[in-house]
Amino acid sequence: MVLGGRYELVEKLGQGGMGTVHRGVDQRLRRTVAVKLLSSALAHDPQSRARFRREAHAAAALNHPAVATIHDVGEESHPDGPWPYLVMEYVQGATLAEALRDGPLPVADAVNVACAVLDALQHSHECGIVHRDIKPSNIMLTGSDTVKVLDFGIAKAFTETATRITGSGAAIGTPAYLSPEQINGTEIDHRADLYAMGCLLHELLTGTPPFRGESSFAIMHQHLFAAPEPVSRLRPQVPVAVEAVILRALGKDPEERFADAGEMRAALADVLIQTSMPTVQATTPGSPVTRSGGRTALRDTFRVSLRPSTDSALALLGCLLSLLCARGRLVDTAHFGWVAMAAGVLGLVALPWSTRLSCVVGWGPVAEAVAVNSELRRAYVGWAYSYLAVAVLLAVAAVCCLVSAARSKKRAAGSLVAFWFSATASIWYFLDDLHKLSVFYLLLSLVAMATVSWESVELVRRQALDGRAARTPHPPA
Ligand SMILES: Nc1ncnc2c1ncn2[C@@H]1O[C@H](COP(=O)(O)OP(=O)(O)OP(=O)(O)O)[C@@H](O)[C@H]1O
Ligand SMILES: [Mg+2]
Repeated sequence: MVLGGRYELVEKLGQGGMGTVHRGVDQRLRRTVAVKLLSSALAHDPQSRARFRREAHAAAALNHPAVATIHDVGEESHPDGPWPYLVMEYVQGATLAEALRDGPLPVADAVNVACAVLDALQHSHECGIVHRDIKPSNIMLTGSDTVKVLDFGIAKAFTETATRITGSGAAIGTPAYLSPEQINGTEIDHRADLYAMGCLLHELLTGTPPFRGESSFAIMHQHLFAAPEPVSRLRPQVPVAVEAVILRALGKDPEERFADAGEMRAALADVLIQTSMPTVQATTPGSPVTRSGGRTALRDTFRVSLRPSTDSALALLGCLLSLLCARGRLVDTAHFGWVAMAAGVLGLVALPWSTRLSCVVGWGPVAEAVAVNSELRRAYVGWAYSYLAVAVLLAVAAVCCLVSAARSKKRAAGSLVAFWFSATASIWYFLDDLHKLSVFYLLLSLVAMATVSWESVELVRRQALDGRAARTPHPPA
C-alpha cells in the first residue's frame, strides 16, 4: 500500500491505542520511515483529524537528537473515509517496554535513560509542547544506546477529542503514568510529564510502575490518594538520592514537583557525580541479610528473572520435550537418553538466569531426535542434487539463525529453536550414522559454552554499570 503517492508500507511494527505503526519507504527521498495510521474510530471525526494535523505540525517543529522527528502528516482517501497518517523518523531498536521484559535496568542505565528523556522533554517544554503520554512504549533505545522519545503531541490531539466526546475532560492514556491533574481533568502543564517521569523511573528500577491494580479505576484512585512504595524497599541498591527524586516527581500537587525537566535532570545528574553516594542498601558485605533483601540482592547480582514471557515459555517447552525424548528412547543409543536428560535438567535450572541458554540446551536434543527420525538422510535419498541443495540451504539458514540470536535478544529464543532444527537436519543428512552423534554433542557443548560466555560478559558489563552509578565522578552524557 502506498500513502500519499509516496510512502510505501512495508511491514507492521506494532499497534497502539491510537492506530497502527508500519515501517515504510519514502519513495521520493528513498529513505526508511515509520508511518502511524490512525485507527478508523478516531479517523471518522473531522475535528479530531484537524486536531491531529495541528498537533503534528506543532510537534514537527521539535528538533532534538532524543526526539523522533516528524517528517509529514497527511490523509489517504478511501471509500470508507479518509485515513489520516503521520510519517516520522524510523527508529531502529527496542522500546523500553520491550527492554523491561528482561527485568529492571541497572541503576546507572535507568538514571542515564531518564536524563536523556528529560533532555528531550526540556526541549519540547521550551517549545510549548507537553508530551502527556510518557511511558515505556513511547521511548526507544537505539542500537547506539541513545534514546528517542516517540509520539509528541499525539496524546494532546486525542485527549481533547475525548474531552469533547465524553464531556468529562478526563484524559485518555495509560493509567499507570497519568498524573492526578490529568485524571481530574483540570488544567495541565509540563509538570504532568515530570509526574510520568517519576512513574517511568520507578518502573525502570523495579520492573513495575508505582501504582498497580486490577482496574484502571483502582490505579487512578491510587494516583490521586496513595503514597508510592519507596523504590528502596523493592530494590535496596537504589541510592537514596534517586529515590528522593522519584518521590518528588510523584508529588500529587504539581507545586510539590520539580519546577521543570532541567531541574529534575540536574538532580539526577548530581546523583551520578557524587563520589560517595549514600545508599539504602539493606545488606552490607558480611552482615546478615534480611530474607527479601537477600533475595533481591541475589536477583540483582545474577540478573535472575522469574517473569513469564513468550521466550521463557518456549524455552520451558524445549526442556520438557528434551526430558520426554530422554525417556522415550527416540534415538536408539545408550548415551543420547542421558544427554537429553542432562540437557533438559540444565535448561530448567538455567531458565531464570538465561532464556537463551535454556533454549540452547533444551531444544538441541529435541531437534536432533526429530532429525534422526526424519526422512532427510543420505542413506535414504543418496547424493541427489536436490536433497544436497536442501541440506546446504539448511546449514546456511542455521548459521543465519545463530547470528540473529546473538545480535538480537528480542527474538533470540525463536531464532535458537530455528537454528537447532535447521542445523541438526543438515548435519544428519551428511552424517546419517548414529555413531557420529558425537558431532551433535560437540556442537551442543560449543553453542552452550558460547552462550554461557556471552551471558556472563553481559552480566559483568551490567554489574560494572551498576557499580559506576554508585561511584562515577562523571556526569551523565
Ligand atoms: N518511529 C518509530 N520507529 C520504529 N518503531 C516505532 C516507531 N513508532 C512506533 N514504533 C513501534 O510501534 C509500536 C506501536 O507504537 P504505538 O505508538 O502505536 O503504540 P503504543 O506506544 O504502545 O501505544 P500508544 O498508541 O498509546 O502510543 C511501538 O511499540 C514501537 O515498537
Ligand atoms: Mg506510542
